[in-house]
Amino acid sequence: MKPVRLITAALTAAALSVPLAAPASAAPDHDHDHPRYAKPGTLRWAAPEGLVIGTAVAGGGHHLEQDYPDPFTSDGRYRRILAREFSSVSPENQMKWEYLRPTRDEYDFGMADAIVDFAERHGQDVRGHTLLWHSQNPEWLEEGDFTAEELREILHDHITTVVGRYEGRIDQWDVANEIFTSSGELRTEDNIWIRELGPGIIADAFRWAHEADPSAELYFNDYGVEDVNAKSDAYHELVQELLADGVPVHGFSAQVHLSMQYPFPSSLEENLQRFDDLGLGTALTEVDVRMRLPEGGEPTGEQLRTQADYYERALNACVNVEGCDSFTIWGFTDRYSWVPVFFEGEGEATVMDEDFHRKPAYFALRSSLLEEKSDGHGRPPWAGHGR
Ligand code: G3I
Repeated sequence: MKPVRLITAALTAAALSVPLAAPASAAPDHDHDHPRYAKPGTLRWAAPEGLVIGTAVAGGGHHLEQDYPDPFTSDGRYRRILAREFSSVSPENQMKWEYLRPTRDEYDFGMADAIVDFAERHGQDVRGHTLLWHSQNPEWLEEGDFTAEELREILHDHITTVVGRYEGRIDQWDVANEIFTSSGELRTEDNIWIRELGPGIIADAFRWAHEADPSAELYFNDYGVEDVNAKSDAYHELVQELLADGVPVHGFSAQVHLSMQYPFPSSLEENLQRFDDLGLGTALTEVDVRMRLPEGGEPTGEQLRTQADYYERALNACVNVEGCDSFTIWGFTDRYSWVPVFFEGEGEATVMDEDFHRKPAYFALRSSLLEEKSDGHGRPPWAGHGR
């Protein structure tokens, strides 16, 4: 089946020249590498101007099933490293519907507020994750007997309330997460919004988010879209249709959950570049590199070197694309990674081990960042900001 088309009009050169509904201003303007925040030797200190280095903030989701307390609120060492090393944070689960919406009439912003406050205190950007997704929705929503009109109002209220609450404080929003299958078909069955309201709801979500915070950059985010392939082709086509229609889409991001069982996605840079060529910002938002662990659970030196190489190649792909302004890893310590919970026999996917010792991947990222910075390849101030 071909991907569902949202807009049937053929794209013309004239349509492409329609100006984007760009964010009103590049929001918020943190001094990421101010010496108060960026201590020498850290990743954020090594990063060239205009590129933020981010991590997911551990909490919710699989953490609830583990025998440790909430990492973000309970682990002081974790928090110190989170503040010291990174210039951007993404709530791993704490801004998803099942956390923000205990009931139809209630919002619970406790954890989300705590993360945004933490980021502000430490000169960090925030990536909001996520507004329209097929997963981690509350039961009252998925099992509810709502009319299309009611569902539309529920989504509108959610986007307006959540995005509006953090107006000017969240830099990038993953507005639509994982809306295509691996063959490039819209998720017309498991995504409640697309199933019940039709594909046009995607454009509405972007419009509502832009109305609620005109300064936020609005993204499509997905996994399996690192390479030029059927799924990323589907995004490339959809984004052009939306832009031609004046929908405020500002960016395309690849999650980059990699496994060393597979080759590195060698067309990552080419893929990001083709979205950059459309005038979009790009970002790598959930980078990790998992491996199959030998008996005993300890990775070999060779595995760690291969992992470092994957991380470095992902970073370089981003750095080589002018508008790629955000490189985020999905957790920085193996102690709290989602990977062993989801993939039996695999793990060690992050840049620090369970005791927060830095792994070769950490040092590879830092050297690459420093090299880029010392080459004077500071990134232009408009990089990624709705050019
Ligand atoms: O929904 C069940 C619930 O019915 C059950 O009672 C409960 C028992 O503890 O488990 C619930 O599912 C958990 C889910 O989070 C919802 O809280 C899963 O077991 C748990 O593994 C899951 O983890 C999160 C996962 O998203 C869910 O999709 C991870 O912590 C989080 O790291 C991960 O993050 C996603 C990004 O948001 C999107 N991209 C992929 C990335 C990795 O999967």
